[in-house]
Amino acid sequence: MLRRMDVAAFKEGQKTVWSLGEFADIAAMIRPASEIIMDKAGVRSGGTLLDVACGTGNLAIPAAERGAIVTGIDITPKLVEICRAEAAAAGLSIDIREGDAEALDFPDDSFEKVISVFGMMFAPQHELAASEMVRVCEPGGTVAITTWTTEGMNGQLFGVIGKHMPPPPEGMQTPFQWGTEEHVREMFDDSIDWSFSREVVNFHADDAEKWFEFMEEKLGPLVLARAALEPQGKYEDLRADLIEHYGRFNTATDGSFNGEGEYLLAVGKLPA
Ligand SMILES: C[S@@+](CC[C@H](N)C(=O)[O-])C[C@H]1O[C@@H](n2cnc3c(N)ncnc32)[C@H](O)[C@@H]1O
Repeated sequence: MLRRMDVAAFKEGQKTVWSLGEFADIAAMIRPASEIIMDKAGVRSGGTLLDVACGTGNLAIPAAERGAIVTGIDITPKLVEICRAEAAAAGLSIDIREGDAEALDFPDDSFEKVISVFGMMFAPQHELAASEMVRVCEPGGTVAITTWTTEGMNGQLFGVIGKHMPPPPEGMQTPFQWGTEEHVREMFDDSIDWSFSREVVNFHADDAEKWFEFMEEKLGPLVLARAALEPQGKYEDLRADLIEHYGRFNTATDGSFNGEGEYLLAVGKLPA
């Protein structure tokens, strides 16, 4: 049974973890996923859209550039600030707020599209986060999410990190459970008409070790793991495992690194 204090502590941890490193530099690389989800969800000029767990604006900004009326929420104050600054620099008017995917601060039926790109998956109570997306989406509207597949490069990445770190509290659902169609159908309301596809984001570097070095500097969860393990002399084991991990997923044949980050794209139509 998941305890309320574990949930609260986990969410505080999320704020810390995504403030570490430089997530904006990774977000720039996953922008193609935002373009695809906008096409598949039918994001249009003049339509209202909520970007749940918007981070630095990876979806919110291109959606506003398409002319959508965009609101974004994220739990991490540092990323909310960056998102606001990016929107202002681009001359875009986006309503960006601190907020929790499990308690969206909007009335029922507020948005035509409610979308989350690798975001709501990090809310610990999956059914609650799913029901909030549906609640604020208008009848006949669209909810859509992307999540790294459980068996793909980025799903497995978190599995490797997890082997070296303390386990999550008992009963806590993990983000990568979202990476299957079954889980999406199970967590959301039965009335939703889903279409699913498997897509890929390609990540490039000179070689697998260089890619690891980029990630250890930029990705909050990895920065945190290093800070926890290095003083105990245990970081080298994680480092070796992750370089091996990236080597295993490398599809380049010229000695460089091309990692295919497979993700599940789920687009759900609500009944009218
Ligand atoms: C991998 S980042 C993705 C950010 C952004 N959607 C993108 O595509 O770049 C995960 C995001 O989820 C946010 N997050 C985690 N738990 C959250 C929650 N309960 N409510 C809202 N945002 C949350 C983090 O702050 C972080 O910005």
